Amino acid sequence: MAIRNIVKYGDPVLRKTARSVLEFNEKLAVLLDDMLETMYAADGVGLAGPQVGMLKRVCVIDIGSGPIELVNPVILEKNGSQQGAEGCLSLPGRSEQVERPNHVKVRAQNRHGETVILEGDGLLARAFCHEIDHLDGVLFIDRTKE
Ligand code: CO
Repeated sequence: MAIRNIVKYGDPVLRKTARSVLEFNEKLAVLLDDMLETMYAADGVGLAGPQVGMLKRVCVIDIGSGPIELVNPVILEKNGSQQGAEGCLSLPGRSEQVERPNHVKVRAQNRHGETVILEGDGLLARAFCHEIDHLDGVLFIDRTKE
């Protein structure tokens, strides 16, 4: 595994739409392992492909209850709302209040291409929304009230 460079705000790659993953191969496994290692090294709770310069629909999350990998994730359901401070490894030191759904249901694939359904409340719901936004070039600062 290797720690990858985290792309910072201002780099155009963060504003691009990532492409679906079609091949579930060793290269994908290495990317996901590297993204997890990079996220842990940076003390983050989530990291998306574009943040390591890869325009692929992949993200990793760990809110403290173990690693989650999402390949080609889609939000199926959103319920409720929550207000809270949010940050991003691509915008170090910046934090803003962002409203997010309080419960989210996601369909994705794992590194083997198998479909998985995941549900999250609170911080996990927030992380799902934040990371999946990255795959469409959307940053948390786009979702602040003002
Ligand atoms: Co982010």
